[in-house]
Amino acid sequence: MKLAIPKERRANERRVAATPDTVKRLKGLGLDIVVESGAGAGASIGDQSYVDAGATVAADYAAAVGDADIVLKVSRPMSGMEGINETAALRRGAVLVAMLDPYRNKDQVAEFAERGLTAFSMELVPRITRAQAMDVLSSQANLAGYKAVLDAAGEFGRAFPMMMTAAGTIPPAKVMVMGAGVAGLQAIATARRLGAVVSATDVRLAAKEQVESLGATFVMVDDEEARQAETSGGYAKEMSDAYKKKQAALIAETIKKQDIVICTAQIPGRPAPRLVTDAMVATMKPGSVVVDLAVETGGNCEGSEVGKVVERHGVRIVGHANVPSRVAVDASQLYAKNLLSFIGLIVQKDGTLKIDRDDDIVKGSLLTIDGQVVHPNFAPPAPPPPPVQPQPIDAPPLDAPGSAPRTL
Ligand code: NAI
Repeated sequence: MKLAIPKERRANERRVAATPDTVKRLKGLGLDIVVESGAGAGASIGDQSYVDAGATVAADYAAAVGDADIVLKVSRPMSGMEGINETAALRRGAVLVAMLDPYRNKDQVAEFAERGLTAFSMELVPRITRAQAMDVLSSQANLAGYKAVLDAAGEFGRAFPMMMTAAGTIPPAKVMVMGAGVAGLQAIATARRLGAVVSATDVRLAAKEQVESLGATFVMVDDEEARQAETSGGYAKEMSDAYKKKQAALIAETIKKQDIVICTAQIPGRPAPRLVTDAMVATMKPGSVVVDLAVETGGNCEGSEVGKVVERHGVRIVGHANVPSRVAVDASQLYAKNLLSFIGLIVQKDGTLKIDRDDDIVKGSLLTIDGQVVHPNFAPPAPPPPPVQPQPIDAPPLDAPGSAPRTL
């Protein structure tokens, strides 16, 4: 079987779906590996390193993927409207594994089915213990949380740590992190390492202990609703308007004392919660910085713009797109390892494909197969049952159950 690694073509995408190390291991599974020329350039991996690991290099996209049985990508393929139609070049029956962002691209999920692709979305891999090595949300969010703090430091005209010098004392920066999931916890740890005084908020009470164990202060609206705010999968629910009001009052009170705000709050499959309003930004000191990691799903901070650094009331609001890609080398290493583990699930020791539709990881991440959208969250609704034909009440059919025998 042939497995292809094309070059990523989306703007801001510097990552690659395989490294020389994972190529070697994929070959060990009995697969032939083809890498599109230049695929690793954004992550500082040259074509020759892939060749040394046992891959062949294809000159262009079509040559790499045209007859591939499995295609590994980072971002979802581009559609014709976006320039080159990356989906159209894949052969019917090919397996596509990538971060397909299906909640925001339901039409594309339908297109994968129409084109007969077997499409797996890595973000949907369930967060069960067995799938930890395949958890792309964690591997990428962790790096994004780290980079968000460095991006904030780059925009901030002051230092993070307290410095006592002969010329005077510099106070430590005050950093607040909104959302203490994977990205938020790494942002807390990074800001602490740089010497900032850190606080964090979340709607999940379980986050309190994790935040405090990193040496930050936990701030939250602690009411009955917060005790129910976590789904069985560990994610946050959308909160009620009453809770949002209390939370807004708490954030408004806290934010005006902060120098840096790192926003990481997300609700899977829904727009990000709006936590910081323009009025709150206006209360921050000039020169403060807000980094909005949720900018691509609508933003936690009012006024943040995808791919831009904007200034409001003297505060810089940073909305970089695709932050994991800003740490492309490490993000690619981890993502490639995540994919390698996933491929181990669907490729058998003899190098053949086996998709076990009863496996929880397959069930959770498989979007389309055999021309159908099969994931319950994206499958078209079942057609309504045909209308029941009304029976004439005064003339029951002959021998209908319960009808009295007729006499002539
Ligand atoms: P996420 O990216 O969906 O959201 C980030 C954070 O924002 C979460 O902590 C969430 O509670 C918070 N949030 C959502 N709405 C908010 C609001 N209105 N105000 C304040 N905060 C808000 O979450 P992520 O980072 O993917 O983690 C989700 C959960 O998964 C966590 O419980 C984490 O511990 C768990 N997890 C489990 C793993 C496993 O292997 N079992 C691996 C990684 C994470």
